[in-house]
Amino acid sequence: MRLAGREFTAMQDAGCYVNGTIACTSCHSMHAYEDTADQLSPGMRSSRACLQCHSKYEGRIAEHTHHGASSPGSDCLNCHMPHTSFGLLKSIRSHRIDSPSLAALDRPNACNLCHLDKSLDWTNDHLYNWYGIALTEMASETDTDDLAAAVGYLLSGDAVQRAVMANAFASEDARAASGDEWQIPLLVHLLDDPYSAVRFVAEKTIRSYDGFQDVDYDFLAPSTTRRAAADQIFLQWSNQQSSLDGINLRSVLLNADGTANSEQAKRLHEQRDRRPIELPE
Ligand code: HEC
Ligand code: HEC
Ligand code: HEC
Ligand code: HEC
Repeated sequence: MRLAGREFTAMQDAGCYVNGTIACTSCHSMHAYEDTADQLSPGMRSSRACLQCHSKYEGRIAEHTHHGASSPGSDCLNCHMPHTSFGLLKSIRSHRIDSPSLAALDRPNACNLCHLDKSLDWTNDHLYNWYGIALTEMASETDTDDLAAAVGYLLSGDAVQRAVMANAFASEDARAASGDEWQIPLLVHLLDDPYSAVRFVAEKTIRSYDGFQDVDYDFLAPSTTRRAAADQIFLQWSNQQSSLDGINLRSVLLNADGTANSEQAKRLHEQRDRRPIELPE
């Protein structure tokens, strides 16, 4: 389910529903909610939502997640209900409740939604080493080189993948895992995306980065104006000192000297999946 508003359709595929008794009211409440946003029952914006039934993980979460117990990488929701559906001009949690996997690459996997600088191969290896999940054969050559998976979806994905990824680039958890000083030169390409929704999300994400709150850009302006604004934002990034320690520069389309490989980024955006996508909201 790639669209918001189809939560029940999605949940019907979950083991918790097929072999269990999960219901919307396991986590949401019509009246006794904690705050009006999402109408979640008290405590349900956390691993508690899952531990209420999967109590065998209680007290041994890190053993299962391979992240420190207090890491965002240990929150059940982040791996099993990642933000991969799109609606209301943002991405929302998938209600399918499944596990990170590379079996269906048209949906970004939970690991690469946080580890924005890592390749699919990296995820493949960890899923195998940590969980014994059989290695997935990567279909095309671009899937197996060291391009970060998130960068591939962001630039070359279809419209939903681009929007979902642009949304992920704003996530604090993802930036804790991946650093946040290399993303701007990639995001600027989406400021001239043919989909206004993608441009809207990219703009919002760029504004969430330090120093870029007040950039002069309007996602509804004509293309020439948008491109000029994108150039300006790119220039601002180029003129700042970025700390890129620990980042595999090639994977995120930076040159060895830390400058942006804009030609390759542009090429990937031009080669994007152009299948038309309409969201009836
Ligand atoms: C109302 C109880 C309930 C809740 C809430 C619940 N589950 Fe489940 N879940 C089950 C039952 C029952 C099963 C089937 C038996 C089993 O595999 O343990 C299941 C199965 C699963 C499976 C195995 C799926 C498969 O196809 O083999 C996963 C993964 C899972 N749950 C994760 C979660 C996560 C993560 C959450 C929180 C987002 C969650 N569950 C919330 C009851 C629940
Ligand atoms: C295992 C817990 C769980 C269950 C069961 C569950 N949800 Fe959710 N739901 C959540 C969480 C957590 C969020 C908050 C998402 C976020 O953090 O962005 C949410 C958010 C939502 C949203 C708001 C999306 C948005 O961001 O605008 C809708 C709508 C929704 N759920 C509908 C449903 C429906 C309908 C069902 C039953 C078919 C259901 N949920 C079952 C945990 C659950
Ligand atoms: C870092 C990612 C990650 C996090 C966080 C995570 N899981 Fe998982 N989980 C996985 C993966 C990957 C699998 C699939 C393993 C497999 O296929 O053998 C899995 C499988 C499962 C299963 C099905 C296998 C089983 O033991 O029945 C359940 C249930 C489950 N997780 C529950 C949880 C709960 C509850 C939490 C929070 C305490 C959680 N997970 C947090 C990655 C994660
Ligand atoms: C919600 C965000 C999030 C998700 C989802 C997530 N991680 Fe992480 N991960 C982090 C953060 C943040 C760190 C940094 C250290 C810490 O807080 O645990 C980290 C650290 C790591 C590390 C050690 C440091 C490194 O970069 O080599 C590995 C390996 C890792 N994660 C692999 C995975 C894999 C594999 C998955 C999917 C099964 C996954 N993570 C899912 C956020 C996440």
